[in-house]
Amino acid sequence: MILGICGSPRSQATEYALKRALVLLGKEGHEVEYWGARGKNIGFCTHCDYCLNGEGCIVKDDVQELYPLLAEADAFIFATPVYNGAVSAQIKAVMDRSRALFAKNPGVFHDKVGIAIAVGGDRSGGQELAIQQIITYYTLTGVFTLSGGAFGSNLGASIWSKDTLEGAKDDEEGLKALRRTVKRLSKYLKEVEVK
Ligand SMILES: Cc1cc2nc3c(=O)[nH]c(=O)nc-3n(C[C@H](O)[C@H](O)[C@H](O)COP(=O)(O)O)c2cc1C
Repeated sequence: MILGICGSPRSQATEYALKRALVLLGKEGHEVEYWGARGKNIGFCTHCDYCLNGEGCIVKDDVQELYPLLAEADAFIFATPVYNGAVSAQIKAVMDRSRALFAKNPGVFHDKVGIAIAVGGDRSGGQELAIQQIITYYTLTGVFTLSGGAFGSNLGASIWSKDTLEGAKDDEEGLKALRRTVKRLSKYLKEVEVK
């Protein structure tokens, strides 16, 4: 199963890009799941270390429903709006809170694969920096990363929204990068025979 996580609090450009990716993957025959931060109650990790006892996270909020999906997924698509040249606080909180999974099983993400989507209001607003944060998270948790490759989708999908949904829909280069990255993920998953 491919799990798409949307780090935007709005139903706008990031959600659009991620859902478009999931639709394309669905058409390729993959099982997909969507989880969005919009409307969710997401607490910060408080470093209380409760999770180190292996019984999960003590913070009983909407991230609890995400834990089994994160553990079960074969592939991830973390999609974030660019906030101050970085991932959104919502996506960062999900990353930090996933510590509860590793405390239970340090290898829980091993053999998973991930791609990244970042949507910024400016053309060069920090999309690649946000993607780099996602890639760093993938690397340190044992997820290996794919992109669509050189000539346009170097690190994944960088989308320029001009701060509107319409802007993202008009960003042909960004959407091409999205398609290429998704295609690469699909090809890989088919090669390793994961639905
Ligand atoms: C707090 C905040 C910080 C932002 N910082 C950046 C930024 O550093 N670079 C950028 O390109 N856009 C920035 N933006 C604009 C958003 O990335 C852009 O509007 C994006 O489309 C939002 O995603 P959404 O349409 O899914 O809500 C910022 C927006 C907010 C609310």
